[in-house]
Amino acid sequence: MDTSNFVRIVEVGARDGLQNEKTLLPPDVKIALIDRLSSTGLKTIEATSFVSARWVPQLADAEEVFRNIRKVPGVSYPVLVPNEQGYRAARAAGAEEVSVFTAASEAFNRANINATIADSLVRFQPVLDSAKADGVKVRGYVSTVLGCPYQGDVPVADVVSVAKRLHEMGCYEISLGDTIGVGTPAKARAMLHAVSQEVPMHAISVHFHDTYGQALANILACLEEGVRVVDSAVSGTGGCPYAKGATGNVASEDVVYMLHGMGMQTGVNLDLLVATGAWLAAQLNKPTASRVTKARTASA
Ligand code: HMG
Ligand code: MG
Repeated sequence: MDTSNFVRIVEVGARDGLQNEKTLLPPDVKIALIDRLSSTGLKTIEATSFVSARWVPQLADAEEVFRNIRKVPGVSYPVLVPNEQGYRAARAAGAEEVSVFTAASEAFNRANINATIADSLVRFQPVLDSAKADGVKVRGYVSTVLGCPYQGDVPVADVVSVAKRLHEMGCYEISLGDTIGVGTPAKARAMLHAVSQEVPMHAISVHFHDTYGQALANILACLEEGVRVVDSAVSGTGGCPYAKGATGNVASEDVVYMLHGMGMQTGVNLDLLVATGAWLAAQLNKPTASRVTKARTASA
């Protein structure tokens, strides 16, 4: 069990956070968001997705955004790629790290990437082969690990088998996504425990959406189980266009506040993160979903 004090935050706000926003943000706002995030001390900042613009219109400007962000040495800027076409476009734009994504439930995968789980893995193989040859790191996402909007319950064994397969194929880290935010702490912990029997805990990240207000509790349970990588989105933005009703990711500000309060380290400057979250909420013209940012900006 990892008893280290350091938790790496994978900031997904510029991708998961924005992909579901109906109002199209101009590329310069996205670039400014990522540049601000880069100055907070975050070490992993997911920047965008090289997916079909028809499927995710908000991220149609992936190339322009990726080319123009300031790449801070020591910070990784992974991007989502669903297939070889996405991988090639990401590489042409200069990406050094990519993420492939599939799910533990067939119905969700069909809605999200128009493929069965098995077919999605077949599509990823050439991406992983090219990435290996190019020295590019690949992260693997498994969605619907605690419930599916179409199928309902998802057997833990299905999560374990997809996570194990992605790891065997060469993904250095597997992000376990509660896409619709239905999980509760004991379930989250049991699911993580089961996956960690097949994928080493240091290669696992947890990714909670906060639809039912359970995300921080779930993260705490998973920290107790030994996980030390957590995905979150500044200002709690987000949601998957193919998971109706699912709200944003857990807010990065709230995760960092909790971790620092527990005496754990993240390397992230909370004040700068809160300022970025408040700025983003203003750009989106909607209240922040981060409780910490709400509290700090109300009393400022
Ligand atoms: P398809 O329609 O089955 O694909 O979509 P296709 O191969 O038949 O291609 C159709 C068109 O898309 C063609 O263009 C291709 O060129 C184009 P046309 O000839 O019609 O003009 N195309 C592409 N364009 C740009 N980039 C590409 C690309 N590939 C094909 N890479 C596809 C299949 C996978 C492309 C589509 O379903 C797609 O892009 N899906 C993306 C969905 C998505 O991004 N969802 C959100 C991310 S996942 C998530 O949020 C969950 C996560 O946060 C974890 C969690 O919370 O659980 C990660
Ligand atoms: Mg997500």
